[in-house]
Order: sequence, then C-alpha cells, then structure tokens
Amino acid sequence: MTSEPTAHDYLESLSPGRGRERPRAAFTSDAPALNLTGTWRFHLAAGLPQVVDGFQDAGFDDSGWGTIPVPSCWQMEGLPGEPRFGPPAYTNQVYPFPVDPPHVPDANPTGEYRREFLLPGNWPEGRTLLRFEGVDSCFAVWLNSTLLGNGKGSRLPTEFDVTDALRPGRNVLAVRVHQWSSGSYLEDQDMWWLSGIFRPVTLLSRPAGALTDFFVHADYDHLTGDGTLSVQADGPALLTVPALGIVEADPAGPHPAPDVIPWSAEQPHLYEGELVTDGERVPLRIGFRRIEVVDGVILANGRPLLFRGVNRHEWHPGTGRTLSHEDMLTDVLLMKRHNINSVRTSHYPPDSAFLDLCDAYGLWVVDECDLETHGFGLVGWKGNPSDDPRWREAYLDRMRRMVERDKNHPSVVMWSLGNEAGTGSNLAAMAAWTKDRDPDRLIHYEGDYNCPYTDVFSLMYADHGEVGLLGRGQEAVAADPALDARRRQLPVILCEYAHAMGNGPGGLSEYQELFEAHPRLHGGFVWEWIDHGVRRRTPEGREHFAYGGDFGEPVHDDNFCCDGLVFADRSPSPGLTEYKKAVEPVRITVDTTSRTIRVRNLLHTLDTAHLRFRWSVEDNGQPRGDGELALQPVPAGADGVLLWPEALNKLCDAPLEDGEERWVTVVAELAADESWAPNGHEIAWDQAAVVGPAPEVPAVVRPLVPVLADGTYTLGTAVFDSASGTLTALGGLQIDGPRLDLWRAPIDNDLRTWNGPLAEAWRKAGLDRLEHRLVGLRPHDGGLEVVTRTAPAGADFAMRTVFRWAVDAEDPGLLQLALTTEPLGTWPCPLPRIGIRMALPGDIETVDWFGLGPGEAYSDTTAAVRVGRFGAAVDDLQTPYVLPQENGNRPQVRHARLTGPDGAGLTVTGYPHTDLTVRRWTSEDLDAARHTSDLRPRDRVYVNLDAAQHGIGSGACGPRTQPQFQLDARPVTLTLGFRPC
Ligand code: GAL
Repeated sequence: MTSEPTAHDYLESLSPGRGRERPRAAFTSDAPALNLTGTWRFHLAAGLPQVVDGFQDAGFDDSGWGTIPVPSCWQMEGLPGEPRFGPPAYTNQVYPFPVDPPHVPDANPTGEYRREFLLPGNWPEGRTLLRFEGVDSCFAVWLNSTLLGNGKGSRLPTEFDVTDALRPGRNVLAVRVHQWSSGSYLEDQDMWWLSGIFRPVTLLSRPAGALTDFFVHADYDHLTGDGTLSVQADGPALLTVPALGIVEADPAGPHPAPDVIPWSAEQPHLYEGELVTDGERVPLRIGFRRIEVVDGVILANGRPLLFRGVNRHEWHPGTGRTLSHEDMLTDVLLMKRHNINSVRTSHYPPDSAFLDLCDAYGLWVVDECDLETHGFGLVGWKGNPSDDPRWREAYLDRMRRMVERDKNHPSVVMWSLGNEAGTGSNLAAMAAWTKDRDPDRLIHYEGDYNCPYTDVFSLMYADHGEVGLLGRGQEAVAADPALDARRRQLPVILCEYAHAMGNGPGGLSEYQELFEAHPRLHGGFVWEWIDHGVRRRTPEGREHFAYGGDFGEPVHDDNFCCDGLVFADRSPSPGLTEYKKAVEPVRITVDTTSRTIRVRNLLHTLDTAHLRFRWSVEDNGQPRGDGELALQPVPAGADGVLLWPEALNKLCDAPLEDGEERWVTVVAELAADESWAPNGHEIAWDQAAVVGPAPEVPAVVRPLVPVLADGTYTLGTAVFDSASGTLTALGGLQIDGPRLDLWRAPIDNDLRTWNGPLAEAWRKAGLDRLEHRLVGLRPHDGGLEVVTRTAPAGADFAMRTVFRWAVDAEDPGLLQLALTTEPLGTWPCPLPRIGIRMALPGDIETVDWFGLGPGEAYSDTTAAVRVGRFGAAVDDLQTPYVLPQENGNRPQVRHARLTGPDGAGLTVTGYPHTDLTVRRWTSEDLDAARHTSDLRPRDRVYVNLDAAQHGIGSGACGPRTQPQFQLDARPVTLTLGFRPC
C-alpha cells in the first residue's frame, strides 16, 4: 500500500503548519476538557512508502495494531530491554542525515496513531479545539476521517479547531507523525533524536464567550512599592483579585496595587485571581515584578540579579523527553535545595507545567525557543536557515508560539531566540517581533557575538581570565565600532559554563568570585542539569546508563550527552554538591583571629530572618559543643558582623591535646519549613581552624633494624620481599606493597580537553604503562631504604623515588614511610597524580576517616567538603560516572581505618595528611570500562594515597584546568604511618 507523494508535501515544506489555530497563552479554565492521554493504537512505518493508506478513516480496522502510551517517545518503548520501535540515536552537532535542506531521507520512520474517544454527553455547544503540547517532529491530524491540518515545531503547542469534525458519542482521532521533516533542520539540539506524541493531548471546549487569549501585565515599582495590573483579554471578561480588592473589574485597568509583595525567585508571591466571562472562569496566578537593564546592569524589582543557574533539558532515563509531573517537581525541588535560583530551558520551551512550578517555587527562567541549526556549522554555515528569508516564517512561528504560550509566567524574565543557530536576519526578525509583543522582558541569544538585537552579552565557556576582563569592561574589541560600543553597555551572562561532564566541574568557586566581584557580571548557567543517560540492561541483566553509539548509530557523539549535575536517575552527583556550596547565597566567614563571624547576604530579596545560624566546635572531629547565634537579620546585599558568643570563646580557649586540631563550623539553615525544603535544611557554611593539623612526624627514637630471613626483610610486623623491596604483609595483613602511581583513569575532561586531549598526551608519554625498576635496597640501622626508578618504555624521563621505612621499638605496631620522589629529565606533560598505590585483602569493606568529606573532592573541587569524621562502605565511596573514570578521592585525610567485617584491617595516618581513594577495581579497570556495568569487583581492595592530583577543570567543553591546579612533574614528599588494626 502506498500513498500519493503529494499528500505528504508538508513534510519538506518550509511552512510551519496548516490549519492550525493562532498561538495563545496556556491556561486552564472550568470549561470542559477531555484528556486524551493513555493507550493509543500504534503502527510504525519505515518511511512514506510503507505508511498505511486509509489509516485515518474512522472505520479503519486497527485491531491488528500494537499499542503505545501517549505521551511517549516511541524509541524509548521496550527499554531497558530492547527498543520496540527502533532505537534512539544521539548526536551533538552533526545532523544524522545529509545536509540537503529541506529534504529528509527516504528512511523516515513514521508513527501512525489512532485513538477512539467518547465525547461526554454534556459537551457544550460552541467551539472545540484539539491541543497537542508537543509532537516530534512533524505531524498530520484527522478527526473522523477529516483532515484537520499539520504542524511542526516539536516542543511547541499546536491547536486545531475540530468543531465541525467532532461528533456526539464515538470519535476517531488519527495522527501521522514523521521522525524527519524540514523542521528537523531547526531542531539540531545536542540531545537524543526522539519522536512521537511526547507531550499531552487534550480536547478543549471553548464555549460561547470563552476567552481565546489574555496577557497579564503586572508591573512593580520598587521606588514606591506599588504594583500596577493590567490584563489584556481578547474578549469581554471581568477581573477579580480578592487580595488586591479588585472585584469584577475591567481587566485592562490599569489597576493600582499599592504595597504589593513583588514576585522574585526567593519570594515567589502569587496573587490568586480570576477572569470571568460568559463562557468560563479562568484562574490567574499573578506575580508582580519588573525586569530591566539600567546602566548596563540587570535589575529585577530594582535590585541587581545574579543568576545561579543551570541549563535544563527535559530528560528521563526511561521515557526520554516525556516527563511526569513528579519528575518536574523533583527537578525544581532539587534545584531549590542546592541554592540554584534560575534555569535556562535549553534548548526549547519545556512542558508548561514546569513553568507553573517555577512560578510557584521561585526560579528565574530564561525561556528558550525550539531552534538550533548547529549542524550547518560543520559545513561552514552554508545554507544556514537563519539567514534565508524563505525560512523566516518558520522562525517567527516558533518564537510566537513560545512567547504567546508562556507570556503569563512571572518566572520568565528573558526570551531566548534559540541556541547555536549562527547569525542572520531571521534571528533579528524574531527579536524585533518579540520586543514589540512583549517589551517588558529581555532578549537573549548567544550565537551572534555582536549582540545587535539582544539585551545581554551572552557567552559560553569563557575561561576565568576572559570573564574577569568582561567584568572590568576590558573585553576584546568587536569589528564594528557601533556594535562594539553598544555591546560594551550590555550586562554579561554566561548562558553556559562549567561543563559538568563526568567528574567535575572544577573551578566553580573561582567563577563565582568573579561574578560576585563585578556588577556587570550576572552569573551564569552550568551546562547542564541532567545526564541524558538511557537506562538499559546488558544481556546478563546488568543495568547501566547507555549513551551515543550504544544503539549502533552510525553517526554519534558517545557520552557527550552525559554531562549533568545530576545523574540520569536524578541522584545528585558530587558536582551538584560543589555547585550548591560555590553559589551559596549567604557567605559566612569565621575569623579565628578577631573571633568574629561575618555574614554577607548575597540574596536578591530576602534578609536573613528566615535563616538560623548555628555554631559548633569539634576537636579532632569529636563534637565539643554547639549553639545558636543571635544575628540580627542582615538585609539583602548587606553584611553583618557578630562577635563569637561566650560559650564558643570558652570552648576555643580550652586546652587541646598535642597533635589535635580544633575546628569551628558555622552553618546557616532554614529556620522554618519552606515549600521546597524542611526546617533545618542547610544553605551555607564556613569552617575555620583554631588549631590546624599538626605537621610533625613522630620521631623514631629507637629504630628497629630489618632482619633478613627466607627471602624477606622483617621490620616489626612488616614483611618486605628482599628481591623487590616491596611490602608484602603487615601484622598478618596481606599487602601488595605500595608502588609509585602516576596514572588515573582519565576523566571526561582529560579525554576531551579543548585544544588537545590531555589523556592523549598522557598515553603518548606512556603514563598508563609505567615500568618500575629497583635501584637500591638498603637495610640499615634506621630501617629499610628502597629506591626505585619509574618510567615509561622508550622514555628518558623518570621519577626517582626513595621509600624510607622505619619502625620505632617504642611502638612496634606502627610502620612509618617517608617517601620522596623527584622527576629526572623533562616530563612532556602534566601528571595525573603523584602518590602510591597498594592492594589489600578483598574483605575490607568500610572506611572511616578524619579529613575532608563526606563527598569526593579534588584540588579544584574542594568547596563542598569540610573537615570532619566520616565513614562509608567501600562501595559507597565510588561515584558511578556514566563513563567509568577516576572518582572517589577523599582529600587531606589525617587518619583512616580500612576494616573488614570483623573490624580488622589497616589504619593509615598522613603527616599531616594524604589524599585517599579506595576501590574494588584498579585504575586500569576503570579506564577500560565503557559503562558502569563493565566494572566487576576484584578480590583485592586498591588503595591510592596521593600527595597531589591534577585538577578536574571542565575541559571537555571549556577551558583547561586553571594553571594553579595543574600538576607538573615535581618533587613531592609523602609521609605516612600504617598500623594493622
Ligand atoms: C554547547 C551547546 C550545548 C551543548 C554543550 C556541550 O555548545 O549549546 O547544547 O552541546 O555545548 O555539552
């Protein structure tokens, strides 16, 4: 069965659709609505030649067809097992089809959907609309065999008037959805290509007198504290807002609203209201606020706005871009609980229910249009639709549909034209239309560096140096002097920065310092919120998250889609914890010299009255006392200083045992339940040492002398192989003695570093295949000295390491190691790490430590960790990055106990401290694994004790690790104590 090709002309037509209703605001009302989500009949055709002729006829027999849930993305059906309807495919920039606009491949999977519904008997007279919230990428619709029209623009709503086609009783809806269309050229976002009716479908009664559209203007004047409300309704209506004393008034007003509580992300106050017409009642939730640029600064309600933001794609590991209300709420709550105050809806308008949540819980939103043509960049931007007038209507249509749908959300403060669509007159036209339609919001677009029509200068992945220059207004000059002058007046945001792929991102705190130092800088949006991992099962049933290439896609971008602050299952990654701390909106400084506590309130709106400040003192990680601080509320933008309370002074004056450390911690936590977190939820903290870690190494007063027998040296309870000098046992514990270790399983930032992957340089240098040679083994009166030379094959550079082992007769259970290592020759690249690695028996299952924790941290990701006593199972010390890579380091560990079920094991002491990593597999295993399911515990536990590691950075998409966190081959010392327990 085939159909006439002409019947499908709309597919490759540049027209955004036919037969559609004019775009309008999303709103609910008490007019009847019929939810058409649920189980639909479904048939997938391989392409147009295979579609089923007549499927749209009401009488068509679909009993032989399968079913599919609506909404859903058809490629996700069947997962985590085998995809039932063709696999998902992931590309970043490259189009997965030839760049031949507006044509698409013949192999164009086409989903045919059918659904019957009964029209309720009391369905009112008047108009009825059929509303699709999102269909990817192009579709045609029939009701009762009547063609209603077609549409494109996947993440935007489309409505059809079905009044004439609707029947009393049984109705049959048929929808044909094409995976590829001319619209696909405009939807080249970095994400999985997924298709289908992926957002809800509703039948809406529009009774006589019902509204089609309305636009709420709720302005706030911070100088007077007054609001002004005006609602432009497109038909007769009466406005009631009880809290403002507005009763059945003309919506247009303008209605003065004296002394209103303005809407902000911190105080998302919404005034409940209602529009009443002859046909329906429409609930309103009104937020008064003003967003503007004054003297190059973005002001919200008269105060500068600092975005602590994230880029959010819609993602669920089982359902793709179809999200439940619960998923959306989880995102909002997680963001709020991690001090995030804003979202860029990269790179398309989200389900509008998400914006309702942003209004209610408080998040500033940059609403981005469903537009990206990045793949044209790979062909030199030749034929880019952004500058081709034939595509203008398609561009404008997308912008109109976003702005009209979302215009009544107070949370939306900026309209973004799209992402990575090059430059061109169609973008300028979108901006012009938007400014005219909604002059009260700002316009964003990053892709045109001249910023001719935007209200902000937006950049991606600028390094710290460039951000500093921008902050000081010293950025490079743009080619056109007039545009340069204009751009210099614009506020700056980083619409993407700190690429959160795998382990990381590093360098967040240094960005935040810049944002907080320069008024022109308004913060940014971390790339990105969530990993787009697909939940999948191996044939043996091991679950993991799949990424590009796992479904056999011929063109793909590997795991580049897994770069979120939360894993695909929405569990926070260490990056999110780090971000929470880096962007904390209240900065506490505990000063041990002046014995003061300074609180800098960086909030936009609120004073600190909603926070409780608590102090505590720990000696060597043991709690000594705590209390509350009596801090007068500090207004937004102000500082408060407080002397230490007497009880804290007293505790800090108490004597301390030799070698112990004393730390004062002050936290700010919620003083009452909020809608998004309970009373006691921590917002910010600081910690300072009254007495810091003791650097002294215990003196060896009466050293034991190594005893040689049966091919071993014995030193106290330690046994060394006399041929290799390696430690093999300690107090009966079998040990694969420490060797110098310079390797780490490359993290994504090492693997994809801009301007040349670091991991390639490492492998070229041979860091993953080091050879060790015993240079000298010298038993002497003070202990055992082992000298090694470590180098890759073919290289003339090396590390020379001296292990000095000693045991004091006064404390024969303690084996001490003083290690020094130094480079010989010139190393061609920075080193991943400098430390030692050893293996312990596999029954070690718990680690308790005193040091930084509780989470993992590296030199440039230490904001979120604090000094304390922590404990975790070895398995819980691992961070399951989607692509296995170095993880789990606990820095500055003073003591650690590694024990098995019977409490026996090993104590490690660092003088003054060491970095510690404990895992059931080796770095080589991590390096070789492609998915978490490839990692299998060995029968040993591997322990890395490091003097230093190369920083994390965010080089997978962005600047290299900052120079101060680069680990060059250099001499280091590592002084440790080992004691069996
Ligand atoms: C940006 C782009 C994002 C994403 C990111 C890298 O250039 O806007 O969509 O691809 O890079 O993960």
